[in-house]
Amino acid sequence: MSKSDFGLYGLAVMGQNLVLNVESRGFQVSVYNRTTSVTDDFIAAHPGKKLVGAHTVEDFVQSLARPRKIHIMVKSTAVKDTDRDAVDAVIEQLIPLLDEDDIIIDGGNSFYQATERRDAYLATKGLRFIGAGVSGGEEGARKGPSIMPGGPASTWEVMKPIFESIAAKVDGEPCVIHIGPGGAGHYVKMIHNGIEYGDMQLICEAYNIFKHAGFTTDEMAAIFNEWNDGELQSYLIQITGKALEQIDPETGHSVVELIVDKAGQKGTGQWTLLNAAENAVVISTINAAVEARILSSKKKERVLASKELRGPAPTGALTMGDGITPWPKEILVQKVHDALYASKIISYAQGLDLIKTMSGKKNWDLDLGRIAAIWRGGCIIRARFLNFITDAYRSNPGLGNLMLDPYFKNILNGNQQSWREVVSLAMLNGIPVPAFSASLGYYDSYRAERLPANLLQAQRDFFGAHTYERVDKPEGEFFHTDWPEVIG
Ligand code: 6PG
Repeated sequence: MSKSDFGLYGLAVMGQNLVLNVESRGFQVSVYNRTTSVTDDFIAAHPGKKLVGAHTVEDFVQSLARPRKIHIMVKSTAVKDTDRDAVDAVIEQLIPLLDEDDIIIDGGNSFYQATERRDAYLATKGLRFIGAGVSGGEEGARKGPSIMPGGPASTWEVMKPIFESIAAKVDGEPCVIHIGPGGAGHYVKMIHNGIEYGDMQLICEAYNIFKHAGFTTDEMAAIFNEWNDGELQSYLIQITGKALEQIDPETGHSVVELIVDKAGQKGTGQWTLLNAAENAVVISTINAAVEARILSSKKKERVLASKELRGPAPTGALTMGDGITPWPKEILVQKVHDALYASKIISYAQGLDLIKTMSGKKNWDLDLGRIAAIWRGGCIIRARFLNFITDAYRSNPGLGNLMLDPYFKNILNGNQQSWREVVSLAMLNGIPVPAFSASLGYYDSYRAERLPANLLQAQRDFFGAHTYERVDKPEGEFFHTDWPEVIG
């Protein structure tokens, strides 16, 4: 039998779908799974396809054409560069069986620093490594994901034909580029996930406002379906509309309303938050989204507190702060739409700012416009609005904060009034909107010519003689005041 073009290690659902995708593009694929029956069942379920099932790692490796290309799809659990996990175990298993220049691809959600460690380690063994973020869930893996590979450019060139043929396409362009060296691919996938958290939370806050305003599940589904035809068009808005339409066959109730309000998370959002703090980049919308999941998971505490801590008395309709005047529904829908769009822009501005900062720090030379372009299709955050981000960086590669691009600036300036009204309305009615309000807080802080940090500097100088600069003196000159002594 001829040697295979591609090998896949780890036949969970994502792995299986990826294999079928690669095979459907004309490549022969070898597969290996630790549990042999999974391999056999998979091969038996797909007769007539160019698939080779291997029972041992040795046979698997031997079945591949050189340089071998082995894509690992096993769950990574390392959260520090020093942690060892299943990806390391598989790599150790493969090393003695591989030849110089063979390529290992880690396609899971691995921590980017672990990817950097593996990249350096495999280089000492004469092997090549690609840490590739793959987004799009099961369907994306089968029909075309967005792929974010990091590693040496020369290794990318070898992988390019396969990656470009299996990736999603937008306007004929494949949703994959060489992101950058080392851990850059997994890093960008991590930020993609942080942005995904932000998008999801903002949608949930819009839903919660509608729910408090007395909209039925059907009405809410209709709103999201309609939004999906406009400037908010995105995969996440689309699935929200569809999810809200779903009825539980057993009870006849909305499935969404039957689901316990405790959010899970696997860690990429928290990694994003920690990385932003380490690099002094503000990603308050994404942080709010991560923290909203954490608070949601403390259901028992919340139930207890709901009986102890007071909020405005619920009226069944959102009132304009006077407890009497309700908001007309159609006006509310438009205003929430505008608030959501503005908040979404902030979330992306923050995520892209973090990528830009890390790119500079690590000398990755990341291209924000091209990254936005490969997020237009295949991945979870795919959205019409990513076309505008792509255009923004294409027309101005040196663009600072995304908010200052002419298109986004116009949207923000146009929507800011509705945004304020929605956040105020939610607060007056006791509806938590942590991501909407964090976004607005960022917007107002960023655009403030003068912030109260002058007082903060005074406080620092007062208790710690930390000194301050003065508005009436040249920048870089520092002053100290002999503040009065405070007793007690
Ligand atoms: C994707 C997704 C995918 C997964 C994440 C998020 O891009 O296809 O981001 O990687 O859904 O693991 O999972 P959590 O919500 O559990 O953190």
